[in-house]
Amino acid sequence: MAPRPLHLGWFTNFAVDEWTKPFTGGGGDPWDGGFYIDMAKAMERACFDYIMLEDTLMISEAYGGSNAVYLKHNIMGPKADPSPMAALIGANTTHLGVVATFSTMAYPPFMLARLCSTLDSICKGRFGWNIVTTGEDLAAENFGMDKLPPRQERYDMADEYVELVKQLWGSWEADAVVRDRATGTYADASKVRPIHFEGKYFKSRGPLNCVPSPQQRPAFVQAGGSPRGRQFAAMTADSIIAPSMGVAGLKAYRDDVRARAQAGGRDPDEIKVLFVVAPILGETEEEAKAKAARIIEAPDYCEKALAMIAAITDIDFSKFDLDAPLPHLTTNGEQGSLDAFQQAGSGKTLRQLCADQLSRGLDGLIGTPDQVAERMGEVMAEVGGDGFLITRPFTANISRQYITDICEGLVPALQRRGLARTSYTEGATLRQMLREF
Ligand SMILES: Cc1cc2nc3c(=O)[nH]c(=O)nc-3n(C[C@H](O)[C@H](O)[C@H](O)COP(=O)(O)O)c2cc1C
Repeated sequence: MAPRPLHLGWFTNFAVDEWTKPFTGGGGDPWDGGFYIDMAKAMERACFDYIMLEDTLMISEAYGGSNAVYLKHNIMGPKADPSPMAALIGANTTHLGVVATFSTMAYPPFMLARLCSTLDSICKGRFGWNIVTTGEDLAAENFGMDKLPPRQERYDMADEYVELVKQLWGSWEADAVVRDRATGTYADASKVRPIHFEGKYFKSRGPLNCVPSPQQRPAFVQAGGSPRGRQFAAMTADSIIAPSMGVAGLKAYRDDVRARAQAGGRDPDEIKVLFVVAPILGETEEEAKAKAARIIEAPDYCEKALAMIAAITDIDFSKFDLDAPLPHLTTNGEQGSLDAFQQAGSGKTLRQLCADQLSRGLDGLIGTPDQVAERMGEVMAEVGGDGFLITRPFTANISRQYITDICEGLVPALQRRGLARTSYTEGATLRQMLREF
């Protein structure tokens, strides 16, 4: 039996491209968006489902109590706003899904609903919203709060928020725009209604003041990791994205969110779970291993790795001994990413945990395109589906060279095995694309 193809996404952000190595195109100055338009075009040639623009709303000071490491190594910042970038990508591609991250903490629901609707129209039905609740106190301070609400409450707010914005997207019936030249009527007023939403946290009158977009609502992407976050993701997302945590961990995660969806009355097949991986490729296995070694043996590798983990967990990892096991840690920030990193009970030293992050928690992804494609197929056969979310190797900046490795090396190797899409369905929306297989 032919294997089911995998869904492929790419997790990136509107941030600094590679600027320190011999092969650097943009040289760390991607702010006119051209670099990411080129990337999206390369991904479209490779028939990816979607590009996802991650976002956070602060310059971290979590590592060592200062922003110095973050600014020096451009870690988790500087970052530019994903929404104009998403519009540019949409306007410069034809088939690729375009997902941008907007936080329920940061955007008033009405603004978010309008923004997503406008982007979905610009992207002709290919837009997705990565729903995040924000996990950093410093970001909360940028929005007038002293600190983040606890996770439980953030997700309770997000439940209500999503309900509200769905109602706003439904405040115009799909056929409300009539453009009737005979009567000179643009929109039929009987099909556009206020929502009068009044919840515990949010209140909005409606209707939305923009027309229904091709998908009516964007595709929903979410990355819940904690039990509460998984529940939210299972009940909401069209595509769930998750850190890799060994094959058994991948399977357990996917089984869990699918069971939660089923219990909540959703068809679990409507949800595509994509696991984050960062393959490292070479013409030979030795070449790939040498590339990996160059990253991992760099003197500042652990500092950069720990600064990244610190930024999304608000835990100061500069305080721990690199050559001792880590105590078990919890956070009000990204618990799922922390758990994937800390591998509780493994007894590994902090230095080993950093090394394990290189290809993001799944082994066997350093080799030739054929070797890595084979491994990805085996892993998915064991896990049961649905696909992968490519990202750059830990601590590395994104480069044209890496994009070429993936789009011109790995994806064709997957395609040769029937493991990746080789064409798009004309006119498919992002949600339709996700449900094709
Ligand atoms: C692949 C991936 C991408 C994520 N992207 C973002 C992001 O762009 N912005 C953000 O604030 N959080 C992001 N997160 C964090 C999640 O939204 C979520 O908070 C995290 O996975 C922890 O789960 P929890 O909220 O259930 O603890 C991401 C997580 C993962 C695994």
